[in-house]
Order: sequence, then C-alpha cells, then structure tokens
Amino acid sequence: MKEKHVFITRRIPEVALPILREAGATVTVGQSDEEKGLSPQEILDGVRAADVLLSLLTEPITREVLSANPRLLGVANYAVGFNNVDVTAATELGIPVSNTPGVLTDTTADLTWALILGIARRIVPAHEYMVAGRYKLWGPNLFLGGDVSPGGTGKRKVLGIVGYGRIGAAVARRAVGFDMDILAYDPHNPGAIATDAADPARHVRAAGLEELLRESDFVSLHPLLTPETRHMIGERELGMMKLSAYLINVSRGPVVDEVALVQALRDNVIAGAALDVFEDEPLMKPGLAECTNALLVPHIASGSQDTRDRMATMAATNAVAHLNGTRAPNVVNPDVYESAAYSARRSAASA
Ligand code: GLV
Ligand code: GLV
Repeated sequence: MKEKHVFITRRIPEVALPILREAGATVTVGQSDEEKGLSPQEILDGVRAADVLLSLLTEPITREVLSANPRLLGVANYAVGFNNVDVTAATELGIPVSNTPGVLTDTTADLTWALILGIARRIVPAHEYMVAGRYKLWGPNLFLGGDVSPGGTGKRKVLGIVGYGRIGAAVARRAVGFDMDILAYDPHNPGAIATDAADPARHVRAAGLEELLRESDFVSLHPLLTPETRHMIGERELGMMKLSAYLINVSRGPVVDEVALVQALRDNVIAGAALDVFEDEPLMKPGLAECTNALLVPHIASGSQDTRDRMATMAATNAVAHLNGTRAPNVVNPDVYESAAYSARRSAASA
C-alpha cells in the first residue's frame, strides 16, 4: 500500500504524532515557529502533498485549498469551532471535516468565569497597581467593582448566555455557586432551550435575545460563528444592555461588531467587556487596547496543557479515520459519507 501522509499546518502537542505514525502515516508540520503563520502558498503546497490535512483555527481552509488536491481524504480541524473551514465546499467535494468538541468544554467555561470575575472585580488593573508599587494605604474606594453573586446588592444577578451548547451549559453550571439567575438564548436552536435548559435548580430560563440583553448583568457569548451570528452583537444590541452590564466573548471575534463595541466602551454604554477573541485576530480594532474597561486575552479559552493534549489526541484520531475511510468520530458534515463525490474521491485515492 502507498504510504499515507498527514500535513499538520502548525505545531500541535506531540501526543498526536504516535497516533498518526501507528496508523502508518508520515507527518509533516508546516510551521513550528509559534509566532509565524503559513502563507496561502504554503498551505496549498502542504495540502497538495497530503492525504489528510490537520489544520488549526488560524488557517483559512477555503474552497481553493480544498480543491487543490483531488486525493485529499479529510480535514481534521484542531478546534471545536470550524468557521475557518469552508464546510459547504468540503461537502460538495466529498471531503469529511472533523473538529474537537467536548474535551475543551470545561476549560473554556473556566476561562469564561475567570473573565467574568476578572472584569467585574478589576483584577488586572489592581495587579498592575500592586506591581507598580502604587499601593500606599488601604481605603474603602480602592478598585471598586461590581458584584457577581448577590453580594452587597442582596439581589441575584442575571447571567445571559447566548449560544446554549455544551460550553454555554457548562458556564451555567458554574453559575449555581454564585446564586445567579440564568437567561439562555440559542441562535442555532432556539426551541431546544425551552425544554433542555428550563432547569429550576440551575435557574435557567429561555429568553429572546432582546429580553436577555435588557435583563442581564453579564452577557456571555458561546455560539458558533455562522452567517446568522456574525455581528449579532452590534450598536443596537449593546444599546439594549444595562449601563452596569458586562459583555464576555470566548466564541469567535466576528460575533461582535468590534468597532461598535469600542464606541460603546468609550461612551460607557456598558460597564465593560472581557474578550478572548477578536474580529481581525490577532489584531484589535483601533482604540480597543486603550479602553480601561476592557479585559483582553489572546484566545486562550481552551488553553490548559491537558486540554490541548486531549484536543491533539482527538484531532489525530479523526485524521486516522479520514485516512482509513472510516467514519470520523467527530465529523461535522456526516452527510458527506453518503455522497457520490465522497465515493469517487475514495476510489481515486485507492487507485
Ligand atoms: C477554539 O477557539 C476552538 O474553537 O477550539
Ligand atoms: C459549541 O460547539 C459548544 O461546545 O458549545
């Protein structure tokens, strides 16, 4: 049998490599420098030489890339989000696409909570104040923040969760300890919330987006990025939020109109925003870095060592399935397996 080849666009945790090698594949890593991405030409060259592509969220896997190799048997994306892959084109071309769901749910929910607490309690400016040697005398007005639990307000705070999938639900579970009420809205599946999330013990209630925005003290975003969710939070939506509310985004940058957000932060239309993702990542829209009511981190929500290792194992396992022509455990376009384009591609590859 011809030797199989997997092209990994950028370096991922080493645990992936023995899984691929035990399946008989040779492996090339396109870029090992952590601060360098691949050019479109490097992606094309890598794909042309590969039987399976293992991509990161930093690489646009466009129709052009997918069309570049008629023998390509699958794309294993190292992320739960897969908006970087043109899945419609992949399905048309008979290429299965897979992702890494589930393993990063808790780690991402943990970071969401770090951001909720960090922005409300002003942890970063307080830390900067300490290390700059500016703490001279305790006083009742030092770094006053907002409550997350009922705290001094004596009243349950409301957490609005937009996108109530695995991660949204994990964020909700953590809110139980803070005695919060939860409003949930799922743009992908508005009907499902009403039945699955109406759990009185968790104080989760389904709401429309407008009601959620108007009533929440914290609005946390967890949808997939799709044409429907792109810019779903813009000037109008920010204007509906309470002056005292915070926006948290660990999903994908373009879910928020970041120019409108910068304006809202400048004008104190909301109390603050904590962002893990950016519209033009790694860039920020002008003015965002100067907003003192923003807490900004570089897309680290799934970033624990153990979770990143498990994502690598999962992506490699999916890649092996793509190589072998078996159903990938985490395929995102399962219909592809019934298609003529898929059968034609498998026969071309084994010819
Ligand atoms: C990270 O953003 C992911 O989608 O896994
Ligand atoms: C989305 O993919 C989620 O896990 O919530």
